[in-house]
Amino acid sequence: MKRRHNQPGDEMIETIPSFGLGTFRVDAAKTTNAVKSALEIGYRHIDTAQFYNNETAVGQGVRDSGVPREDIWVTTKVWWDRLSHDALVASLKDSHAKLGIGTIDLALVHWPSPDGAVPITETLAAMQEAQKLGLIRHYGVSNFTAPLLEEAVDAPGGKVIVTNQFEVSPFLANRKLVEATQRLGVKVTAYMPLGEGCAHTDPTLQAIAAKHGATPAQVTFAWLLSRDIVVLSASTNAEHQRSNWNAQKLKLDADDIAQIDALDEGKRNANPPFAPKW
Ligand SMILES: NC(=O)c1ccc[n+]([C@@H]2O[C@H](COP(=O)([O-])OP(=O)(O)OC[C@H]3O[C@@H](n4cnc5c(N)ncnc54)[C@H](OP(=O)(O)O)[C@@H]3O)[C@@H](O)[C@H]2O)c1
Repeated sequence: MKRRHNQPGDEMIETIPSFGLGTFRVDAAKTTNAVKSALEIGYRHIDTAQFYNNETAVGQGVRDSGVPREDIWVTTKVWWDRLSHDALVASLKDSHAKLGIGTIDLALVHWPSPDGAVPITETLAAMQEAQKLGLIRHYGVSNFTAPLLEEAVDAPGGKVIVTNQFEVSPFLANRKLVEATQRLGVKVTAYMPLGEGCAHTDPTLQAIAAKHGATPAQVTFAWLLSRDIVVLSASTNAEHQRSNWNAQKLKLDADDIAQIDALDEGKRNANPPFAPKW
């Protein structure tokens, strides 16, 4: 099938779709099929990163799916060691070539520059340059604390930051950062929503799931969506992908939500040595 590429004049999605497929720790050899099957199920948002070493395979999945390019939102992320102007632009030229899907919908700063070594003003100026070059349509950030996000939003080019992507799960509700991000008019995107698998075996989530004839994973995703949070879930298994996708139909009641809110124990999984001071 002849595919249309993202070209000037194409009507692209303008808002980040609320349910996306993640590809962290997904082997490049499995990524193309995972992306293709997700797009066949109905997913229209795929999340990758330079660090995941699977951008080429993500692009292949997008092209193989037969879904029109302009209906799909693809996010990549720029690793923290290339946030200076020229390094960032060069890295997005590389991502653009690897993905091979025309202009990338969204590029995120994957982690803030450790100790502010590269000023956010320089990084945002580089993102704007990448936009001018047609490499990306939108930009945003990931793993930014509230003070770092405030600084970014106040910097030139900061008002159009689309999202702050960070860890949110029933066990790390991250309420202060969610509220600060939303107050700044920036969309929250949640990663590691299942708390590294803990959601499947949690008795509270299991009981709520049983009540609704759902799975604990679906309950978790429905809880995030009820908080106006974009969900990223990763799976190479088409049945899991389909089940996860169907979480969008699940409506939780106030009692369910209160019970899930009470699971918050501040349990963070993603905290590498270069992480900011949360
Ligand atoms: N910005 C950042 O720093 C950052 C950090 C981490 C993640 N992320 C992004 O967020 C995405 C989501 O995070 P994640 O990949 O850690 O989290 P996740 O979706 O919480 O977990 C993925 C794991 O859960 C399993 N799984 C998914 N659905 C399932 C189901 N219905 N039943 C049983 N098992 C299921 C998958 O296995 P199967 O393949 O067997 O289904 C996979 O092993 C990432 O892929 C990545 O794109 C971003």
